[in-house]
Amino acid sequence: MARILTGIQSSGKPHLGNLLGAIQPAIALSENEANESFFFIADLHSLTTIKDPQIRVENTHAVAAAWLAFGFDTEKNTFYRQSRVPQVCELNWYLNCYTPFPMLANAHSFKDKSDRLADVNAGLFTYPVLMACDILLYDADIVPVGKDQKQHLEMTRDIASTFNHKHGDIFILPEAQIDETVMTVPGLDGQKMSKSYGNIIDIFQSDKELKKNINRIVSDSTPLEAPKNPDEDTTFALYSLLATPEQVATMRKNYLGGNYGYGHAKKALYELIIDKFAKERQVYNEYINDPDLIEKELAKGEEKAAAVAKKVLERVKKALGFA
Ligand code: ADP
Ligand code: TRP
Repeated sequence: MARILTGIQSSGKPHLGNLLGAIQPAIALSENEANESFFFIADLHSLTTIKDPQIRVENTHAVAAAWLAFGFDTEKNTFYRQSRVPQVCELNWYLNCYTPFPMLANAHSFKDKSDRLADVNAGLFTYPVLMACDILLYDADIVPVGKDQKQHLEMTRDIASTFNHKHGDIFILPEAQIDETVMTVPGLDGQKMSKSYGNIIDIFQSDKELKKNINRIVSDSTPLEAPKNPDEDTTFALYSLLATPEQVATMRKNYLGGNYGYGHAKKALYELIIDKFAKERQVYNEYINDPDLIEKELAKGEEKAAAVAKKVLERVKKALGFA
């Protein structure tokens, strides 16, 4: 039985990129009988950027509701909120003392964030150590992540190896699972869709808001009558990620034929999202309108996660002479 573990920060509302790039593939992995999955919401990590408690709680509920709406089985697996298993903070201190300063100073994600953000705090700098703790505290074997997280997984393995070298085989060395075939979902402006670029599509918005948002997708100024190049258009790219091959072929023909405007394509994309995710949108709303239900789902996993965390932390404390 392999233990799969991954986390998503609650730094914003889940978007189409998170769903297609992370949540759906992780749920597919969890459905394999040979796996046991630990999926969590990294709300401690989101404190590096989100200081408003209410917003963080809302985001946590939104991310949790997205996992639940896409059918994550919380009975078979372990679904929890990072902050409710505080053993991770204790381990964080221990592993800070095994993490070389230059390793953190060379992290791409820190360099990137410290260039962009006004609040460059120490949490942002030590972020990879907390992430290593998320993984090592649960004896995870496999960690499915996006390409941007590859370096963090290498650091996790380095920290664990250093510790094991000094104290014996305390930690399991996790393997990153980076699916190179997972597409990068473009945002409204054609760049990578990301919470930090303000270009997201939130498929759980109300019909009206969703339609308005899809109409914001940037397109060129080719007139309605003229043929259009589907391969250079963001609406077409998004439609292609969701539609059947027949639907894609039809839209391609429409673009090339002329007398088909970007407005038509946006309307088709909107209708496809409403139709394809009808069930998920309904379940998401049921959860969002009943936060107690989300809390109940999370509480189930928090107990299961804490049981594992306590055992592993005990192992670490014994090795360090603290227990
Ligand atoms: P964001 O860039 O919006 O802050 P995160 O860094 O929180 O997203 O990413 C959470 C997960 O979603 C990661 O596994 C990441 O690889 C995946 N993901 C984020 N944006 C996209 C995208 N545009 N296309 C595909 N996957 C994405
Ligand atoms: N850093 C990850 C991201 O931004 C989120 C994360 C936190 C994570 N802890 C983790 C992912 C542990 C995998 C395993 O996407």
